Amino acid sequence: MPACQTNTDLARLATSGIRRFTALANQTPGCVKLTLGEPEFDTPEPIREAVAESLSRGLTHYPPNNGRPELLSALSAYMRGHGLSYDVDELIVTCGATEALSASLLALLNPGDEVIVPVPAFGLYETIVRAAHGTYVPLDTSEYGFQIREEELESVITPRTRAIIITSPNNPTGCIYTPETLDAVANCAVRHGFCVICDDVYNRLVYDAGYERFAVRHPELRERTIVVDSFSKPWAMTGWRLGWLAAAPSLKSQVEKMHQYLVSSVPAFLQDAAVVALGLGIDEMVDTYKTRRDLVCSRLDAMGLSFNSPGGAFYSFPRIDSFGMSSEEFCERAIREAGVALVPGSCFGVEGFARLSYCVSDSDLETGLERLGEFTGSLGGVSF
Ligand SMILES: Cc1ncc(COP(=O)(O)O)c(C=O)c1O
Repeated sequence: MPACQTNTDLARLATSGIRRFTALANQTPGCVKLTLGEPEFDTPEPIREAVAESLSRGLTHYPPNNGRPELLSALSAYMRGHGLSYDVDELIVTCGATEALSASLLALLNPGDEVIVPVPAFGLYETIVRAAHGTYVPLDTSEYGFQIREEELESVITPRTRAIIITSPNNPTGCIYTPETLDAVANCAVRHGFCVICDDVYNRLVYDAGYERFAVRHPELRERTIVVDSFSKPWAMTGWRLGWLAAAPSLKSQVEKMHQYLVSSVPAFLQDAAVVALGLGIDEMVDTYKTRRDLVCSRLDAMGLSFNSPGGAFYSFPRIDSFGMSSEEFCERAIREAGVALVPGSCFGVEGFARLSYCVSDSDLETGLERLGEFTGSLGGVSF
């Protein structure tokens, strides 16, 4: 029997490269995985306790589509505390940033509409844009320290440009956008009338001064900005699948329709726990990541690898092009020959780099860096 016809735009896409390289690492006994963006910390106890309490109170029915009123109020207050003014009716609680991004793009795009994505970038964006029959327009930033220059951005804008997705701190580079980058995006968005989707999932994981969020710096673009945030990274809640988005009513009313038909709502009994999370400090985790960031930078320096210093998130993205092989080959050989797994730059849309994730235990990070140093040393780099 012939196979069913499926979405051809989706069928053309490969499965997640990050998962592929993690699977390869899993098949290699003793391999240290520096591949996933998955905090190794446990979700703090008070958040977990709140779920038990919600279940015992019987919060097991459909909640309001956009979120329980208590959580929406807490989110509005939390965002105000971070310089963003959104009322409860401008917020949607989502199944992670993943669903927030999916609902936003599905709500925005008509077939053939273009979405600009500065690369390297998180692979999810391309998948959603293509699955929604949009046109994915990568903008290579690797020659400009992973910043966006106005003339480069201008050069990829067309009358079909509907949105740009910006991520700061960035996955995979860890870089933070400069005010010049944010202004370049704002200037083009005003001139050409497209939306700015801010994937701010790493906004609490910042280690250097000077970080600014697009929506805080450019409130005049509020009507065409969507802010996406998540509980996953700051509170080590990746498995909870909890995030949210904020947008002015004209945009939010369309995204809300998509959200209702995609998932209806987020599990009721998780939402009071999310309120607890918003009230918890995360300084200890941030300090730990900062210490690891410093360690990674000093070790990469010692290996003679060049990289842009990551100001946030928990990734570093060193150049590996001097070794004369593709990023896939470099990462495959690192797994097989040295027992350390990184993710090739090609998985994020650029060649010549590899992503190293440092949200792993101190001992795994230490061993992984040692093995990476031996591996690059064996390829003719500086041996660590
Ligand atoms: C840049 C970026 N956006 C979104 C997500 C997805 O986050 P969530 O777990 O909230 O769906 C990730 C996860 O790694 C990410 O790195």
